[in-house]
Amino acid sequence: MLPRCAVRVCHVLVLVLCLSAAEDFDWTKNDRGSFYYGTFPAGFSWGAGSSAYQTEGAWDKDGKGLSIWDVFTHKKGKVQRNETGDSSCEGYYKIKDDISLMKELKLNHYRFSISWPRIIPTGIKSDHVNEKGIQYYDNLIDHLLESKITPIVTLYHWDLPQVLQEKYGGWQNISMVNHFNDFANLCFERFGNRVKYWITFNNPWSVAVEGYETGEHAPGLKLRGTGAYRAAHHMIKAHAKVWHTYDTQWRAKQKGLIGISLSGDWGEPVDIGNQKDIEAAERYVQFYLGWFATPVFHGDYPQVMKDFIGKKSGQQGLGTSRLPTFSSQEKSYIKGTCDFLGIGHFTTRYITQKNYPVGRSGSSYFTDRDLAELVDPRWPDPGSEWLYSVPWGFRRLLNFVKTQYGNPMIYVTENGVSEKMLCTELCDDWRIQYYKDYINEMLKAIKDGVNVRGYTAWSLLDKFEWDEGYSERFGLYYVDFRNKNKPRYPKASVQYYKRIISSNGFPNQREVENWRKKAIETCSSSNQLLAAEEQRSTAANILRLIHDPLTSHMEMVTEIVVPTVCTLSILLSAIFLMFLLRRRN
Ligand code: NOJ
Repeated sequence: MLPRCAVRVCHVLVLVLCLSAAEDFDWTKNDRGSFYYGTFPAGFSWGAGSSAYQTEGAWDKDGKGLSIWDVFTHKKGKVQRNETGDSSCEGYYKIKDDISLMKELKLNHYRFSISWPRIIPTGIKSDHVNEKGIQYYDNLIDHLLESKITPIVTLYHWDLPQVLQEKYGGWQNISMVNHFNDFANLCFERFGNRVKYWITFNNPWSVAVEGYETGEHAPGLKLRGTGAYRAAHHMIKAHAKVWHTYDTQWRAKQKGLIGISLSGDWGEPVDIGNQKDIEAAERYVQFYLGWFATPVFHGDYPQVMKDFIGKKSGQQGLGTSRLPTFSSQEKSYIKGTCDFLGIGHFTTRYITQKNYPVGRSGSSYFTDRDLAELVDPRWPDPGSEWLYSVPWGFRRLLNFVKTQYGNPMIYVTENGVSEKMLCTELCDDWRIQYYKDYINEMLKAIKDGVNVRGYTAWSLLDKFEWDEGYSERFGLYYVDFRNKNKPRYPKASVQYYKRIISSNGFPNQREVENWRKKAIETCSSSNQLLAAEEQRSTAANILRLIHDPLTSHMEMVTEIVVPTVCTLSILLSAIFLMFLLRRRN
């Protein structure tokens, strides 16, 4: 047995080591600097992304089973204007069309996800494998490779088979780990000869918090203070299991890489000179990115999450923490299960300390953090309510990843900006600005020594934006959702992104400014063309509506019914007035 003082020395050493690791990131330094002209390392991979439920459509075709999103969107009041992904961009039928758009951009990679219920309708492999679903992904992968575009494939982008939700409660249940592993194994078996980049989960934070805590996303559960932590716990275990399956059964033969894609907003202390704000900002990032990244890289949850959730659970009179724990075997099994880290990043918040005493209403993920989020009203916010453009936050986040997780290989798996316009707008000046500045900050991060290997613009197409329906457009390509054929039109940002790709960065000021001018010039004529086309299709739709009163096209219904009802009421009032006046006379 070690003498007591030796044990104490060890403790102190461990503590010093932990503290010095956490101290690596310098919160007090924020070098925003000016635009940096330069290029990316040779071989840097440029891409664009999508996900199955957001783009495929064909929700009930060719033997596909139901996903939790199919069921969620068909319930009234869950999604803006009750829109669904039933047909979305009809990507299921447009492999060749969409690949030609990628070729136009000269993409090196395309990131997409596999719909679990499309290939295993109930989610349980022993029930049935749907060969038609397999065939669809086979075709997509083959066509990509023929076009020299590398597929980066996500296994779980939120569309859990509905049967697994109904039977087991979805990610609340540990049995998901084995079902997900069977699904992943099937994907490795059938596609792994051609797919060399795998992502287990996309943004598990959203699945946990929005699916099981706030209920804004499918499956719509509101299990405040416990549901998100439990769902995350099972997803982390499932991720680790699938990584080990790939590592032990497939890696030697297939020689691919497998990682996870985490999303993280950056949290900047409101007052960089205030230690409390710095700690609050760090908590924000740890509860977001660190919740998943720390187990995957270090084997356990961030200490600050264990401390805060543990403390609050105690104050509630609970015997144990609401944050589940990993056994020591589990910790070593989970630690290091990441060949590359996918980062999805869109925006930043200012953070300050704010106490949420444990009250009668209990605790939630949000109150557990004891902080408040703020935004600077000068930050541009062209689209989604939550999405402010703060490019320097991206460089900060990337540097944080470098210092906290041992400078892992990073692929940026999502970055982009939306617009709220329902009308036609191909001249997306603000998106050009967003991409230009965010990509530039990523370049600066690479200069800082961050190991970023690729970048994925989010997204290739406008698509179904979860609970926001089609009201937020993230695409480089505009999709006309009113037209049954879902035609795609390039926005100005296509031209701009294409230039960044072909120059592998930003060569010099004159050229880069010229790109913008050219992109805007070409888009205004296509804008007019599209507007004319939309007018034509609106007229055709009106005619169709007149002939087919049973049509259920929501967008058209509101647009036509509202003016018609208004016009009719005005007409009726006028007739009534005239009638009254006549009687008086
Ligand atoms: C992250 C999600 O992974 C993606 O599906 C979504 O479109 C973007 N956030 C934008 O909201």
